[in-house]
Amino acid sequence: MKFIEDINVDNKKVILRLDLNVTIQDGKILDNTKIVKSLKTINYLLDHNCHILIMSHLGKIKTLEDKLRNSLEIVSLELSKLLGKNVCFIPETRNILPTILDNHDICLMENTRFEDLDGKKESGNDPELAKYWSSLGDVFINDAFGTTHRAHASNNGISKYLESGYGYLIKEELDGLDPIVNNIKRPFTVIMGGAKVDDKIGLIKSLLNECDNLLVGGGIANTFLKAAGYEIGSSLYSSDYIEEVKEILNTYSSKIVLPVDVVVNNNDEVSTISIKEFVSGSIFDLGEKTLQVYQDILDESETVFINGTVGLYEDERYRNGTIKLLDILRRCDNIKIAGGGDALASINTLGYQDAFNYMSTGGGATLEYIADKKLKCFEE
Ligand code: 3PG
Repeated sequence: MKFIEDINVDNKKVILRLDLNVTIQDGKILDNTKIVKSLKTINYLLDHNCHILIMSHLGKIKTLEDKLRNSLEIVSLELSKLLGKNVCFIPETRNILPTILDNHDICLMENTRFEDLDGKKESGNDPELAKYWSSLGDVFINDAFGTTHRAHASNNGISKYLESGYGYLIKEELDGLDPIVNNIKRPFTVIMGGAKVDDKIGLIKSLLNECDNLLVGGGIANTFLKAAGYEIGSSLYSSDYIEEVKEILNTYSSKIVLPVDVVVNNNDEVSTISIKEFVSGSIFDLGEKTLQVYQDILDESETVFINGTVGLYEDERYRNGTIKLLDILRRCDNIKIAGGGDALASINTLGYQDAFNYMSTGGGATLEYIADKKLKCFEE
């Protein structure tokens, strides 16, 4: 795959795949890092008189409600603001006027994953969809580092039909990560948070072959605790993955570290209890004893990667675990990398950027790169 500067893009219609999958809460973008990091490639293309059709996913689309919650329109407004230039929002993913780029310098198409509702066409890398999207431009530039670990129609698919290259963000990410990833200093500890195990299960397995410790938090920890036989009451967990997680726990028991105490909301009363004494309620954060266990491991680690958040930090009742963990990382004298939209949003919101040697826009993408050194979006 060629770098953008090695492709003649002058005056061309360019399809630009970005990762604009930002965290949105109450109709507001919590953290615009991914959008800001995309500007260099956009400006390069504008300087070369290109007409740009931007594509991106936002969230995961499995139901009609997901569709209503995950329109990219709000992102087009933020992008217009940052560019100081009108970005034309196209509210659909099909039947787009073939001439749309003749009349606009820059357009943003609606969420590519809206195509997942009708047979997972985007995520399944449907060739007909990829061909259709590719028909809207002359050249394809992929700068969505956050989805480089996926072979979807809007990245891998389109690249089969058009002259293709990668942009400045992918270059910057690989330049930043390669020196760390190619020579990982051990012990190497991964802190994995986030809501659901679902699409991370394969990644967790390959990562466990690579890392020395996996410290678990967030909804992912709930699934692991359930699989380990603990009561978790009405906490969020991924019921379909319990058997697989049990196998993972059996195979990698020496590497996986689970919470020993948790912050629980029981009928609106919030308290910290030992996981062994859990009776009912929902888990929303890590307890102090767990943080001490995690601190001891982090103090001994040479390289640390954090993905996701370990508690529902957006609610101040459940923010302590995220803040204390970031405090621990700030004090640790080791190589620290953060990755993924939610991790970046929490770090930027709480002001812990200085705690990290490198902050990547990719969560799953970075972890998969560490585990396999492959970028699926570029595979033939
Ligand atoms: C991310 O935030 O890590 C990327 O946007 C990828 O999102 P995905 O895991 O839904 O593909």
